[in-house]
Amino acid sequence: MDAETFREFGKAAVDFIADYLETIRDNDVLPSVAPGYLLEQLPKELPEKGEQWKDVLQDVNKFIKPGLTHWQSPNFHAFYPTGCSYPSIVGEMLSTGFSVMGFNWMSSPACTELEVVVMDWLAKFFKLPEHFLHSSKGPGGGVIQGSSSESVLIAVMAAREQAVRRVKAEQPELSEGDIRARLIGYSSDQGNSCIEKAGNLGTIPIRILPADKNQILTGAQLAAAVKEDLAKGFIPTICIATMGATGTCAHDDLISLGDVCEKNKMWLHVDAAYAGAFLALDEYAHLRRGLECVDSLNYNVHKSLLINFECTAMWLRNANHIVDSFNVDAIYLKNKYEGKSDLPDFRHWQIPLGRRFRALKVWVTFRIYGAEGLRNHLLNHMRLSERFEERVLADDRLEIVAKRAMGLVCFRVKGENKLTVDLLQRITEHKKIYMVPSTFGGKTFIRFAVCGMQPKEQDVDFAFEEIDTQLTKLMSELAANGEDTWSKGKIRRLAEQAEV
Ligand SMILES: Cc1ncc(COP(=O)(O)O)c(C=O)c1O
Repeated sequence: MDAETFREFGKAAVDFIADYLETIRDNDVLPSVAPGYLLEQLPKELPEKGEQWKDVLQDVNKFIKPGLTHWQSPNFHAFYPTGCSYPSIVGEMLSTGFSVMGFNWMSSPACTELEVVVMDWLAKFFKLPEHFLHSSKGPGGGVIQGSSSESVLIAVMAAREQAVRRVKAEQPELSEGDIRARLIGYSSDQGNSCIEKAGNLGTIPIRILPADKNQILTGAQLAAAVKEDLAKGFIPTICIATMGATGTCAHDDLISLGDVCEKNKMWLHVDAAYAGAFLALDEYAHLRRGLECVDSLNYNVHKSLLINFECTAMWLRNANHIVDSFNVDAIYLKNKYEGKSDLPDFRHWQIPLGRRFRALKVWVTFRIYGAEGLRNHLLNHMRLSERFEERVLADDRLEIVAKRAMGLVCFRVKGENKLTVDLLQRITEHKKIYMVPSTFGGKTFIRFAVCGMQPKEQDVDFAFEEIDTQLTKLMSELAANGEDTWSKGKIRRLAEQAEV
């Protein structure tokens, strides 16, 4: 393809994307295709002759778009948001256009230096402790990883290597193998599945502790588990705390966890995949408490700060721990600038060697919105979740199950879990809005997360009306079928209320 054709193709693709995003509310949020739909329609072999870009773009519309779940639809309320904004899309285009690698300074100086700049911008925007900034000139700093899962895995592996070295120095009679076999980590049952996975991959079993009635993990719980494990000969190595759990967005008690970790020479990592963004707001200043005792922290910039997938910020109090753990040198990676400046060689801070120029989309987007625009975006998510919560509270059939946090509201139908499960099933089958369930303390509930590009009040109202309609239908049908016996008349009463 020559540059002229690329210009035409690229402009048509930009128009296509803008049309897609501007009309996204016209589509059901969930697709209406069955497994294998695409496999049946596409050729089994790579085309022998090249095709025209217009035909390819048409087929994106014809075959690909129908198979999309529309994550950028404001009717998407499942999981947590994945960010998207026009400036970030352009930032992605530019970075793809340059197609450079940034594994060390020389491989593309702008790549490393811009990452240092935006990671410090973000650390200051969140008012993180000074030692997380590159500009502090200490051993700390931030890096962009692909995902929270990678960040947690890196923390687990770094904690493992630090623990092995420390224990070997303290007890030289132990073999390295013995030490490794005794390492153990901790997290709560409200933590994301990536934590257990990081333990599996990083060969440290993670003991999953039950969260307390507020869905959080506290120092007292951790201390009790550590005491028990020390008595059994284990070596407590890392605690992975959560700021903004996937289920209810609860925040573990960092201050007391930090205290236990310090006393036991354990690494403290915080998974703030979603909630981290809200550190920027004074309304959530309390989240910053305890961050000074944290060794590492991850936040998915691609969740709620208008940056497209993928882009995860990870900060380290002492990046040397990671560099020491991962450092592998090869002659072709050596260059005359290595070790000559304060600038990091980010290849030592991550799992792969190659790295994308992710900082570019962050820089482009943050400049276009400014700190004020980013804060307004977060405040909008809070405002919309508050509006949704008000609608839930005003409905006698529904109840809130956890404190509203940021852009997340957790609610359920009063009574037996089956009602909530059936309601969600109906809503999902109708495809107008998309939400996912969770459970805590034996109660099934539905998570309503403010997501999508440019969500508005009308979208919250649309979602609530859909819930209202489906719930009213469900209750009328149950009452008509006389199925109210299993819930001891509750359904009938609720249906009567619904009719009123
Ligand atoms: C709290 C939390 N941690 C970790 C993750 C996993 O993130 P990633 O897909 O970046 O690995 C999620 C996903 O939503 C999450 O909510």
